[in-house]
Amino acid sequence: MYYPEFPPDCKSLLCKYLSPEIYASLKEKKTRYGFTLEQLIRSGVKNVDSGIGVYAGDEESYELFAPLLNPIIREYHGFGPEDRHISDMDPSHLRAENPDPEEKYILSTRIRVGRNLHCFPLGPNLARRERLIVECMVSDALKALDGELAGEYYPLLGMDEATKRQLIEDHFLFKEGDRFLEAAGLNRDWPEGRGIFHNREKTFLVWVNEEDELRIISMQPGGDIQAVFARLAKAVEELQKQLTFAFSERLGYITSCPTNLGTAMRASVHIKLPRLGAKMEAFKAITDRYDLQIRGIHGEHSESEGGVYDISNKRRLGITEVQAVQQMADGVVALIEAEKKL
Ligand code: ADP
Ligand code: ARG
Repeated sequence: MYYPEFPPDCKSLLCKYLSPEIYASLKEKKTRYGFTLEQLIRSGVKNVDSGIGVYAGDEESYELFAPLLNPIIREYHGFGPEDRHISDMDPSHLRAENPDPEEKYILSTRIRVGRNLHCFPLGPNLARRERLIVECMVSDALKALDGELAGEYYPLLGMDEATKRQLIEDHFLFKEGDRFLEAAGLNRDWPEGRGIFHNREKTFLVWVNEEDELRIISMQPGGDIQAVFARLAKAVEELQKQLTFAFSERLGYITSCPTNLGTAMRASVHIKLPRLGAKMEAFKAITDRYDLQIRGIHGEHSESEGGVYDISNKRRLGITEVQAVQQMADGVVALIEAEKKL
C-alpha cells in the first residue's frame, strides 16, 4: 500500500489531513477487530470528490487513527481532543414552537439518530454473520415496542421492487448503491441483513444495517418539531432498555462516519423557500449563522426540486441533542422571516 494520490483540486478532509508523515505512522496499525488505515480511507481515496472521505470500522479506530481523525473531527464539529461530549435528550428542555402553524413553508419534519451495538464492530468491518445477528437482535428489540411505536420489520431481501421504490420516493427508505458507502465496504452482501421497521403511520422508523447498524427516525408532515423530538426521545429510551449502544465518554455515540459522532442526530425540515433559493448568497448567510446544512429533497448528494430544501443541523458532536434541534428550529424561523420579506 502506497501513499494515495489525490488530484490538486481535491477538497476532502482526508486529503487535507493525511500527510505523508501521518500516513507512514499509521499504515501498519490494526485495531483489535483487524481494521486498517487502508480500509479507513478507502472511500475517500476512491471518491476524490468526497467531503470527508473516511469511515471507521470500530470504536478503537477513533483512538488508533486519531492523528488523522482528530483534525477531521475538529474541523467538522469544532471539537478538540480535550473536549468531552454531553448528552441531553429531554424534550422539556427544548423551546421549539411550530415555526409555521399555517403550513405555508414546512412540508415535513424529521429527526434521526444513528446507533451501533457496542458488542460488534461498525458496518465497514462487520462480517456477514455478524450483520445477520445484528439484524436479528434489533428486529427482536423492535418487536417488543408498543403503543404508538409498535410496528413491523420489513427485510430488504425479498421486498418487491414497487414497494421499495415507493418507500424511497416517499422519503422513508434509504437509497441503494451509494458509491461512498460502497467503497467503504458498507454495501457488502447487499441486500441481506438490511431492512426497515415502521409503525402504521410511518412516523417512527428504524433503518437496519445501512451506514450505521441503526438509524432511529421520527418524522411527520408539518412543522411540529417538539412532537417529532419527543417521539424520538421516547423511542430511544425504550430501545436502550433492550440494546446497549456503542458510546464513548469523549465522543458520545460511536458512528461509522465521523460527521455523525456525538448526538448522531440530524434534525431536518423539508421547507419551501423558492425566493431565498434564487438568492443563494443570502440563503447561505442565514444557514451559516445557525450552522445549518442545505441538502436536496432526496437526501444527501441530491438536488432541490421546486424550491424545496432539506435544512438540518450540521454539527452533531460537542452539542447536546436539545441544542442540535434548537439550532435547526431557530434557523428555520429566521429562514421563514427572510423568505417572507423577499
Ligand atoms: P440521513 O438523514 O440519514 O443523513 P439522507 O440525507 O440521505 O440521510 O436522508 C434520508 C431520507 O430522509 C431521504 O429520503 C430524505 O429525503 C428524507 N428526509 C430527510 N429530511 C426529511 C424531512 N424533513 N422530511 C421528509 N423526509 C426527509
Ligand atoms: N463519505 C461522504 C463524503 O465524504 C459522506 C460524508 C458525510 N455523510 C454521511 N452520510 N456520512 O462526502
